[in-house]
Parts: sequence; structure tokens; C-alpha cells
Amino acid sequence: SELLLLNGPNLGILGRREPEIYGTDTLADIEAAVAEEVAGRGWKVTSVQRESEGQLIEAVQDAYGTVGAIVNPGALMIAGWSLRDALAAYPRPFVEVHLSNVWARESFRHESVLAPLAAGVIVGLGALGYRLAAQALLAEVPPA
Ligand code: DQA
Repeated sequence: SELLLLNGPNLGILGRREPEIYGTDTLADIEAAVAEEVAGRGWKVTSVQRESEGQLIEAVQDAYGTVGAIVNPGALMIAGWSLRDALAAYPRPFVEVHLSNVWARESFRHESVLAPLAAGVIVGLGALGYRLAAQALLAEVPPA
């Protein structure tokens, strides 16, 4: 089984992107952490990071066979309506993750158009949030 780990714009440069806000873990570190969390269930991780909404939508459409998804949409949280529609058609649960506590930041980050579709949302816990999202999906998806 495959778990989709989907990261949106500006998340490929984690580690050197405003580390005081987003921490020093790289995307490779996060991929390894998520893979470690789900290995016990025999799940593999398909990790996709793209800068544009269209490419993220294609990744979602290609991932209908995955067991669930962890999604950090980056700033597409604010107005990523077509990514939202893509996730509405995604047949499995997804957990939305934001490294930073978006509610402690600028008001334009206080709403997510994806959040109403998510099984849950984790914000402000840094890279740990991805591990917690993986645990949530393990709990949400019954063992095969
Ligand atoms: C983010 C929060 C978003 O508001 C921002 O645009 C990002 C990163 C986070 O992980 O904290 O790109 O999704």
C-alpha cells in the first residue's frame, strides 16, 4: 500500500526556508520520518512536491489507489479552489498539515479552503505534525 505525501509550493526548500518559522528539517527528513511511521503497517510513501497547483492536482488524480494522504498545500490553503476540488474527488481520507501555527500569523493564513474536507488538521507542531498525521491515518484506515 502507498501513502501519498503531498507538499505544495515553497516546501521543497524546507531547511533553508525561513527556518525560524518552518524549522530546519528538510523535505527529505520529513519523507524519512513519515516512511518510518508507516513502515510497521507495510505502507510505502509516495512523496510529491510541486510549485504549481495544476501539478498538484495531477498528483492527486494519479493517487486514487493510495490508502490516504498527508497534504501541506502551502499558500494554496488560502485560495486553492481547484486543488480543493481535486481533493473532494480523492476517495480516501487526508490530513492537512501546516508546520507553522497559521492562526498565530497574518490573517490571510487564518482560513483554509481544504480544511473542511480534511479528516483533521495539524498546525504549529513543525515537522512532528507530519508524523502525527501519519499516525492519524494509520488509525483512520483499518488494517488490511
Ligand atoms: C505553511 C503555512 C502557509 O500559510 C504558507 O503559505 C506555507 C507553509 C506551513 O506549513 O506552515 O507555505 O503551509
